[in-house]
Amino acid sequence: MPELRSNFTPGTTPWAVRRAQWRALGIPDADMDKPKIAVVNTSSELSSCFSHLDELAAVVKEGVRAAGGLPFEIRTTAPSDFVTNAGRQARYLLATRDLLVNDIEVVVEGALLDGMVCLSSCDKTTPGHLMAAARLNVPTIVVTGGYQDHGIHRDEPVDIEDVFESVGAVSDGRLSVDELRRMCDVAVCGPGVCAGMGTANTMHVAAEALGMTLPGASLIPARGERVRSLAHAAGERIVGLVEEDLRPRDVMTEGAFANAVRTCLAVCGSVNALRHLQGVATEAENGVDVYALYEKWSRQIPLLTAVRPNGPIRVDELDRAGGTRAVMKGLERWQDPAARTVSGRTAGELLAETAVADPAVVGTVDEPHAPAPTLLLLYGSLAREGGIMKRGAAGGELRFRGPARVFDTQDGAMEAIRDRRIGSGDVVVLRGLGPQGGPGVASASWFVAAIHGAGLGEDIAVVTDGQLSGLNHGVVVGQVCPEAAVGGLIGLVEDGDEITIDTATATVDLLVPDAEVERRRAAWKPPEPTSERGWLAIYQRLVRPLSEGAVIVPRRPGDEPSARPVVPGGS
Ligand code: FES
Repeated sequence: MPELRSNFTPGTTPWAVRRAQWRALGIPDADMDKPKIAVVNTSSELSSCFSHLDELAAVVKEGVRAAGGLPFEIRTTAPSDFVTNAGRQARYLLATRDLLVNDIEVVVEGALLDGMVCLSSCDKTTPGHLMAAARLNVPTIVVTGGYQDHGIHRDEPVDIEDVFESVGAVSDGRLSVDELRRMCDVAVCGPGVCAGMGTANTMHVAAEALGMTLPGASLIPARGERVRSLAHAAGERIVGLVEEDLRPRDVMTEGAFANAVRTCLAVCGSVNALRHLQGVATEAENGVDVYALYEKWSRQIPLLTAVRPNGPIRVDELDRAGGTRAVMKGLERWQDPAARTVSGRTAGELLAETAVADPAVVGTVDEPHAPAPTLLLLYGSLAREGGIMKRGAAGGELRFRGPARVFDTQDGAMEAIRDRRIGSGDVVVLRGLGPQGGPGVASASWFVAAIHGAGLGEDIAVVTDGQLSGLNHGVVVGQVCPEAAVGGLIGLVEDGDEITIDTATATVDLLVPDAEVERRRAAWKPPEPTSERGWLAIYQRLVRPLSEGAVIVPRRPGDEPSARPVVPGGS
């Protein structure tokens, strides 16, 4: 066992005052020098996404004690994408990821604990935990909390994705509010994350592919013996990790990030994984450019499994076929076998004992479900530092050209779709929603879901600097960077301007003459500071661009933004 930072010198003030506190908690003398493990429980009573984590935290603690450690449950702020999104146009969601990172830092570094087991569930919690692990670099295992059961409505399966997209059908009168209410009442049948390949499940996959979970931890049901046994095993294993001094930055190397990016592409995971993984890399200070990894691999990695919303497969079918490990097996020839994992074994060793249980559910690079690309980074005059589009199983190239319809709020766009002021062929520009403009990255996801619900998902394009849900799909370019609030061209678009989106050239361009763009740029003024106070005001002052993961890590002198590729196409 290495010398533990948590064992203070007897007779010093930190030793004395902490001992007094802990003796009052009933901690026996014999436990005082054991490895002290934070069991990070990111949950609350606000959402079913994490309503089971209190129970799992108790199981992790049993495992820690069994292995000779001393566990302390730590509670953090707990965002839920479908509950915490109601206020301030969902601006708290991404900003809360970073609040969570700092929350963990304060507790773990303040108390000088030796390791962490992080209980992750909803969309922002897994990236928040990975970012905290990368920043603090204390031995860490992520325990992903599993997916929720879906329900049955009118003899058909119904899940949260059906609910999410049905709002559009209510807007245009094809579905009654009563019918939607009945769907809501049965769609989620237990704790755990949204059942499709949305952001939560994608980030669970990414955490396992990065090597930060125990093998087989992602894409499992939130209820049952497997999740409990993995939680117990994580509690036991973390004590070994502390003894071995295996730290997150030893695990999350460039090879591990490449494994994670390839796996996320193979499942056509949420577009949000791009910024989250970049945020983890930025926190790890390892120089890994996740955008470059996506760019490099997106044209090569095909779709190996088509879980909803990418295709008809349900996540429980993928689980039965072998889950994340099976997908990694299908990619085996591309994977970095030397990448280490928190299990103590390498990715290659784990893949050697993995089999794909159902090739109809999980394909291989040679026999995929659909050709590459599943996700595509686009550049061009409207996204000089990148934007991202989900292609899923759509296949083939796509070229969309149409007139811009510009909105500065999602509510304005929702109203326009309800009033039928947006129609087939339009390119809706939703802007001013980025990290600084929001502030905090406002959501464009309800609008995108609503146009799908209205049956216009393939007929209307969307270009936005706001955030999307992992369940969104269609002709949508999200996370456009630079954002409008910092002078990005998206802020100069006017109604009626022609915009092109071309997957063959991976570009998104504004077709306006240079002279006119210059005229608008000369007249452009940065937006007035918002009236935000509190956490969003702090976030606005510190946040870096989406292309750097939208982290709130203040720059040091000489710590300049990385240069992103600029595609000169379009004007
Ligand atoms: Fe929490 Fe989907 S809203 S996982």
